Amino acid sequence: MRLERAMVELEGGETAADLSALATSSGMAAIHVAALSCAGAGRPLVAASDLYGGTHALFSRELPAIGVPTRVVDIADREHLRAALDGAAMLLVETISNPTLRVADIPAMADLAHAAGATFVVDNTFATPLLCRPLGLGADVVMHSLTKYISGHADVVGGILVYRNEMDDRLREIARVFRPTPSPMDTWLALRGLRTLALRMEVASGNAAELAMWLAGRGEVSRVDYPGLPTHPTHEVASRVLDGGFGAMLSFTLRGGLAAARNFVEHLQLITLMPSFASVATTISHPASTSHRGLVEAELETRGISPGMLRMSAGIEDVADIRSDLEQALR
Ligand SMILES: Cc1ncc(COP(=O)(O)O)c(C=O)c1O
Repeated sequence: MRLERAMVELEGGETAADLSALATSSGMAAIHVAALSCAGAGRPLVAASDLYGGTHALFSRELPAIGVPTRVVDIADREHLRAALDGAAMLLVETISNPTLRVADIPAMADLAHAAGATFVVDNTFATPLLCRPLGLGADVVMHSLTKYISGHADVVGGILVYRNEMDDRLREIARVFRPTPSPMDTWLALRGLRTLALRMEVASGNAAELAMWLAGRGEVSRVDYPGLPTHPTHEVASRVLDGGFGAMLSFTLRGGLAAARNFVEHLQLITLMPSFASVATTISHPASTSHRGLVEAELETRGISPGMLRMSAGIEDVADIRSDLEQALR
């Protein structure tokens, strides 16, 4: 089966016949195609403020630089979002945001976007179609970085858009001109990865939930961001929007700040430091110096990204092995 068809069936379920998909050379390329297909006539494109650093840079810097108006807003502030959507052509949110793991209220966002006549695009990379199918909750376009969970082994770069059939002509037209064609090898590896997605997500999400609870009880840790914890600001939304677990990503903040974070990662033995995520192996990143390094200090602070924060992508190893590595590095 082709990758595009497989993703349509996974994202669409019973509505798969009404959907099409377009694979791209990277997740960022997929976002570019979606954005360019909506841009025009001076209508602004609205993006959530807590998106992946590259997407944030596209909407806050690069699109405005070529004359495409954008508005970057805190989607938790509904009135602000409603006002920002006035006259807008598109709303882009992530199902689970990076790195504070806030879960977007997809049905509510879909209502707001559609009331304003905007196309609602959801980056479902962190959740995967196994935890959330945004098209069934009102989204018009779902995007994935195939680089992450879909391929699952940190050896692919790719992206994909899944959307209603009537949007096919415009999206393919943009793709024909912009030409972000994926390589056959990456597409084949992504399709192979898809075959084990359900198994990987089940184990990795279970590991993340257990590690989040364990980290929350550690004195060295001042804060744990995981949507499965009742203390997480979007736990209630996550319980409604996610189905089948709370995901395999979590973030935690060390009381000792940057020095403690540096010392911690230098002492890890099993877990590797890596800016990407979603591999079968557990990895850790330091958002303030990697994925979110383009943000100024005030932006980092508003988004709750402090120098002591680490983002962990739980893998499928034995959870006891991951915990012992964390424990010895904390000590
Ligand atoms: C949520 C999210 N969306 C999109 C991207 C971009 O994907 P790619 O690296 O495949 O271009 C990333 C990359 O980390 C991401 O985390």
